[in-house]
Amino acid sequence: MGNKSGLISFFIISSSLYVDAYQNYTVGDSLGWYDLLENPKVDYRNWTAGKNFSLGDFLIFNTDNNHTVIQTYNFTTYKLCDYDNALDNDTIEWSAADPSATAPQPVSVAVPLTKVGMTYFFSSDYDGEQCLNGQRFQINVTYGQGLPPSLRPDDTSPGPVGPQSGDDESVPDTLVPSNFDNPKDTSDDNQDEASGSIPLLAFSNLFGVWLHGLVIVFGFFVLCC
Ligand SMILES: *[C@@H]1O[C@H](CO)[C@@H](O)[C@H](O)[C@H]1NC(C)=O
Ligand SMILES: *[C@@H]1O[C@H](CO)[C@@H](O)[C@H](O)[C@H]1NC(C)=O
Ligand SMILES: *[C@@H]1O[C@H](CO)[C@@H](O)[C@H](O)[C@H]1NC(C)=O
Ligand SMILES: *[C@@H]1O[C@H](CO)[C@@H](O)[C@H](O)[C@H]1NC(C)=O
Ligand SMILES: *[C@@H]1O[C@H](CO)[C@@H](O)[C@H](O)[C@H]1NC(C)=O
Ligand SMILES: *[C@@H]1O[C@H](CO)[C@@H](O)[C@H](O)[C@H]1NC(C)=O
Ligand SMILES: *[C@@H]1O[C@H](CO)[C@@H](O)[C@H](O)[C@H]1NC(C)=O
Repeated sequence: MGNKSGLISFFIISSSLYVDAYQNYTVGDSLGWYDLLENPKVDYRNWTAGKNFSLGDFLIFNTDNNHTVIQTYNFTTYKLCDYDNALDNDTIEWSAADPSATAPQPVSVAVPLTKVGMTYFFSSDYDGEQCLNGQRFQINVTYGQGLPPSLRPDDTSPGPVGPQSGDDESVPDTLVPSNFDNPKDTSDDNQDEASGSIPLLAFSNLFGVWLHGLVIVFGFFVLCC
C-alpha cells in the first residue's frame, strides 16, 4: 500500500518537473529591446549565447512604441533588415511602431516559440536603421518537450470519418517527432486511432510524461523487488 502512494508521488513530481521546464526569456534582460543608439550597452548576440531555446518557451520583449518586434523565418528578410517585401507566411509583426509619437510609450510583448529551427528577430523601423544598429538576433529553436496544448494550432475540428490519403500533410511538421512518422504497430484494433492526426498529436504530447513515468516505475520495481 505504501508502495502505491510512493509511486503516485513519483508520478506527480515527475509530471510537474516536466511542465515547469518551459522557459520565459526576457530579451536583453534589464536592458530591454533597443538599438545601440538608444542604449549603447545592448548586445543581443551576447545575450543569446549559452541559452537553449525550445518549443513553448516565450521571449519577452520590453521596449517602446518607437521600436518594433519583427519575427521572421526567412534569412533574407532578416539580412535585409526589411520586411516590406516579406511573405505573410514567414514573417510576423508582433509590435508595430508609431514614429510620430514624440514621447514613446513602454511596450511589452510575449512571443511564443512555436517552430523548430532558425528564427530571426529584428526591429524594422527607420529603413532598418535600428536593426543595422544592433537591434536583431537569431536563435535556433529545438523541439525540447514539444508545444504545450495552449500553443497548438487550433485545428481540432472533427476530421473526415474514414481514413484519407494525404492526411499527413495536415499535421504541422513541428508537432510530430520524426520517429512517429512510421508507427510499426498496426494491429487492427489500433488502426482507426493511428490514422487520425488528433490522437497522434495527443500521443506526442503525452509521450514525454509517459516515458518519464514508465522509466521511474521500472526503476522502482528493479529497486524494490
Ligand atoms: C511566460 O509568459 C507567458 C506569456 O506572457 C505567460 O502566459 C506564462 O505564464 C509565462 N510563464 C512563466 C513561467 O512565467
Ligand atoms: C558578453 O558577455 C560576456 C560574459 O557574459 C561579458 O564578459 C562581455 O563583456 C559581454 N560583451 C559585451 C559587448 O557586452
Ligand atoms: C544547452 O544544451 C547543451 C546541449 O544539449 C548543453 O550542453 C548545455 O548545458 C545547455 N545549456 C543550458 C544553459 O541549458
Ligand atoms: C524570403 O523573403 C524574401 C523577401 O524578403 C522573398 O523574396 C523570398 O522568396 C523568401 N524566401 C522564401 C524561401 O520564402
Ligand atoms: C511561404 O510561401 C511560399 C510561396 O507560397 C513558399 O515558397 C514558402 O516555402 C512558404 N514558407 C513557409 C515558411 O511556409
Ligand atoms: C525613434 O527612433 C529613431 C531611430 O532609432 C530615433 O532617431 C528617434 O529619435 C526616436 N524617436 C524618439 C521620439 O525617441
Ligand atoms: C539547429 O539545431 C539543430 C539541432 O541541434 C541542428 O541540427 C541544426 O543544424 C541547427 N541549425 C542551424 C542552422 O544551425
